[in-house]
Amino acid sequence: MEILKTKPQMQHWSKQKKRESKTICFVPTMGYLHKGHTSLLDKGKPLCDELVLSIFVNPTQFGPKEDLDAYPSDIENDLALAKKAGVTAVFLPNKESIYPKNFQTQINLQHLPQFLCGKFRPVHFGGVATVVAKLFNIVMPDIAIFGQKDYQQLQIIRQLTLDLDFDIKILGGQIIREQDGLAMSSRNAYLTDKQRASAICLSKALNLAKELVVKGEKKAALIQKELQDFIHAHSETAVEYISFCDPATLEKVEQIDAQVLLALAVKVGATRLIDNSLIG
Ligand code: PAF
Repeated sequence: MEILKTKPQMQHWSKQKKRESKTICFVPTMGYLHKGHTSLLDKGKPLCDELVLSIFVNPTQFGPKEDLDAYPSDIENDLALAKKAGVTAVFLPNKESIYPKNFQTQINLQHLPQFLCGKFRPVHFGGVATVVAKLFNIVMPDIAIFGQKDYQQLQIIRQLTLDLDFDIKILGGQIIREQDGLAMSSRNAYLTDKQRASAICLSKALNLAKELVVKGEKKAALIQKELQDFIHAHSETAVEYISFCDPATLEKVEQIDAQVLLALAVKVGATRLIDNSLIG
């Protein structure tokens, strides 16, 4: 497994692989890998000749009051997991390599970032779109895989790939959950034991919504109210949003007649958790 720390090294490696007619599958991450990430690597491994992982905590996708400085990191463990998953190259750039002095370009999509997390994290998706476009240009993959827990991010990346003519197939990887249902996330590491116990309310709320829909409830507002009360019955929780929306456009849906996306963002203590499920 090669570890490439600069842009020229990574580009040189990828160009060489292309000259050898090797296909490249890419899993971009911010590190502190868990089973959610390794499931993306497992999905990618049989699809291509080369499997590339990037680890870069992208500062431009964090708002001023967010957790950039506290973001967990364990590079040694990440590299061990990457090796075990059959990664052939890890791109491990530093901040200056990705954002050199006088960097001044930002990619902003017009519609998709207006919904869900974008309302609460105004700079987030501009930062994600910009860094992912840069990573695509540096790694030059044939396939790139992103987790479906960040459903809005996945849609945004699909759209930017289309809009900017990247010849890359974008795949989503299913949400991987702890035994009690909590979606795996690097941010789960911030939770105290008490908060960890409360945090299962997100996945339980998704199940509750499914039950209500199966019983015949179609009014999104009614289900939202039930879910909000259910979540707030757990200690240290504050709902940011509970949203039923169109799975492609992310526009709000009032009536659950076709398949919809139910997406949640809940603060448990100071930790912001998200989860989602397709329903109906
Ligand atoms: O999902 C993530 O970990 C990040 O948003 C990504 C896609 C690696 C961009 O920094």
